[in-house]
Amino acid sequence: MATSNSRSCLKYLLHLAHDNLDFRLPEITALLALRGKPFHPCENFREKAPFWCLNDLSEEDVHSIMTRSICAKSAFELWGHGQTHSELKASLLNYPPENMSPFTHKDSTYRINVYTFNKTLEFADRIKRIDALEYLSFEGTVSLKSPQHIFCLLEDYGTDPNNIPEQPNYIYFGRWIADGQRELIRSHSVKNRHFIGNTSMDAGLSFIMANHAKVKENDIVFDPFVGTGSLLVACSHFGAYVCGTDIDYNTIHGKGRSSRKNQTWRGPDENIRANLRQYGTEKMYLDVMVSDASKPVWREAALFDAIITDPPYGIRESTRRTGSNKDITRPPEESHIPVSQAYHLSDIFADLLNFSAHHLVMGGRLVYWLPIYRPEYCDEMVPHHPCLRLISNCEQTLSSHTSRRLITMEKIRGPEEVDRLAHLADLRFSPYQGHNAFREKYFSGLNKREGEDV
Ligand SMILES: C[S@@+](CC[C@H](N)C(=O)[O-])C[C@H]1O[C@@H](n2cnc3c(N)ncnc32)[C@H](O)[C@@H]1O
Repeated sequence: MATSNSRSCLKYLLHLAHDNLDFRLPEITALLALRGKPFHPCENFREKAPFWCLNDLSEEDVHSIMTRSICAKSAFELWGHGQTHSELKASLLNYPPENMSPFTHKDSTYRINVYTFNKTLEFADRIKRIDALEYLSFEGTVSLKSPQHIFCLLEDYGTDPNNIPEQPNYIYFGRWIADGQRELIRSHSVKNRHFIGNTSMDAGLSFIMANHAKVKENDIVFDPFVGTGSLLVACSHFGAYVCGTDIDYNTIHGKGRSSRKNQTWRGPDENIRANLRQYGTEKMYLDVMVSDASKPVWREAALFDAIITDPPYGIRESTRRTGSNKDITRPPEESHIPVSQAYHLSDIFADLLNFSAHHLVMGGRLVYWLPIYRPEYCDEMVPHHPCLRLISNCEQTLSSHTSRRLITMEKIRGPEEVDRLAHLADLRFSPYQGHNAFREKYFSGLNKREGEDV
């Protein structure tokens, strides 16, 4: 049988999940970059559309993306497309027969599926669609149960559920190649996870973060605000060695109150290592330790291939760091001196970027969530660092007035002494103080919940 290498002018079609729209392009671009391939869409590319046509890829590239992607549902070798069924027919009849024949010859078995986006078709209409493709020279035998090859007619009826056109806006036909990894959202759901907390990161987003970070086999990945280790679970699934720190002793040691309904205290072995064991990746566990991210304990070296984290926003957990406020004058009757002080959001992010500049390998990525008060947001608020280049900035809406942005940065140079004064030369490097009032703004009463919890 001919392979894709002996066939020419191949284009591939991705069918993308219609959620987390902002996260899709950075995910696919990062996964292609892991293969050393650029993202080359075909003409008329629309980022928010459910189907993307890509050029300059091999079938192996597409398989590789699909072994990792959460955002892509399925991938196809594109045989034809058009705005109408007659345009599709013309396009299919124009497709080189030698590209089709390895999959349509008389000894093959096949099935044709019909998929419609933003419209439900009656069974009879699906059959009509399939019958209308009789101009294609399938010589093999139909096998609905276990075909060697699956083909798909995909119709796009736009993205507005209140305005569904009679006829599709666009139609594609192709050979199915692979499905993405959306099953991981279910298999790794925090609902069934051994050890969880109030702020455990959703499984799908954790895998998307690992993809944005270009985490790969044998990488060393660090989460400085590790909590219950959801991000370590995702990174270890992709073959990385993982470690983390958290200021909270109980979280690191799996002690204290449980976050589960009907359970007061955490049970034995409720800890991050057990989470990895649950998913068969315990061998990728390096360690976790109690440590304050504002006072890193690491030797000065580029230790990590990726730093991936969800810092505290002060909504469900406090933003504290160790140390006492010696300057605060206390009344004599108050003898207790606190062992922690406020850790302002602007400092959290400035410290995180600085830490990453020092401890990421060159080209390594930092991926983190930045909470945002939407009415005031502008792109300039995203923290900068002279050693880190912004790769992507994706919004996940939480409520009418708040969202969080998934920020991905890449280390482009090592830190220099002058960087400590960078904020004097360029205001973009000053920590933006506006992040500090996020908690007050979040609870300002203006919020209507739209997205998931923080
Ligand atoms: C949003 S949660 C992270 C949740 C985590 N991604 C998970 O899936 O469970 C933030 C974590 O940061 C920790 N934290 C707060 N202040 C810290 C500090 N100064 N240094 C290190 N960890 C801190 C909190 O204890 C909390 O576990």
